[in-house]
Amino acid sequence: MTDTIAVTDRDGTRLIRMDRPQKKNALTLDMYRAMIAAIRSGEQDDSVLNYILCGAPGAFSAGNDLNDFLAHGTAGGSTVGSPVLEFLDTILRATKPLIAAVDGVAVGIGTTMLMHCDFVYATPGSRFQLPFVNLGLVPEAASSLILPRRVGHQKAAEILLLGEPFDAAAALGYGMVNAVVEPDALMDHALGVARKLAAKPQGALRRSKALLKADVEVVAARIAQEAEVFNECLRSAELREAVAAFMEQRPPDFSRCR
Ligand code: COA
Repeated sequence: MTDTIAVTDRDGTRLIRMDRPQKKNALTLDMYRAMIAAIRSGEQDDSVLNYILCGAPGAFSAGNDLNDFLAHGTAGGSTVGSPVLEFLDTILRATKPLIAAVDGVAVGIGTTMLMHCDFVYATPGSRFQLPFVNLGLVPEAASSLILPRRVGHQKAAEILLLGEPFDAAAALGYGMVNAVVEPDALMDHALGVARKLAAKPQGALRRSKALLKADVEVVAARIAQEAEVFNECLRSAELREAVAAFMEQRPPDFSRCR
């Protein structure tokens, strides 16, 4: 188990807090395992009616821990059977509503996991980024499918191929967040939505969520397809250069990889 994921249950809501602020909530394999366990056990627990995923002030999540990429090779990335893929599969198939409360940076899977949540609230200062190409990688979590559906091909190409950050107002415009909420109101807002959901007839609520997510196998197939290509990229000189540059705090030089 890890002390970097805190799980608390209150009034039918399971609050799952990523708590590694000194590393901007970069996700280690143990953190993925703890979140998987929290949601899978929540699925079996009748007293859990919905989930809230949140991070630390200023850091929702900086995405996959880049040291894991280097230390574990492909085991740190989206290998089939890896905690990363299991986590994605778990949130994809969660039958109870998933609410995300985002403050601060949401990079890589910190943004793509939101595409599998039902409600997303973000503070005005939140900053989203899908920098896969910049790291020598490709999109994951079916973002290459979900994003163009939401925003059209050109905007998705801009977000995924240029990999530049965008703010909460832009994310709202893209339909990636439900509302922008001030930091001091964020958790109350998410908990308020959770309370409203908890008061609904749960049978109808879950059946309705299942209908909204009727294409779950299509999404799962894209996650697997992306993971295969992602795996190839994890062995590339481009990835090694990008991660080394981040760790050495210098700009990457991809001309070395051609
Ligand atoms: N993996 C491992 N460590 C990470 C990390 C990651 N994904 N993101 C941040 N960290 C670490 C930094 O190395 C730093 O550690 P240190 O204090 O020991 O030097 C610490 O977290 C704080 O990060 P820092 O870069 O100083 O914070 P910032 O506020 O200036 O920038 C980010 C925050 C998230 C924009 C920046 O850290 C970043 O770009 N991280 C990489 C994100 C990424 O590429 N994720 C993978 C996507 S697949």
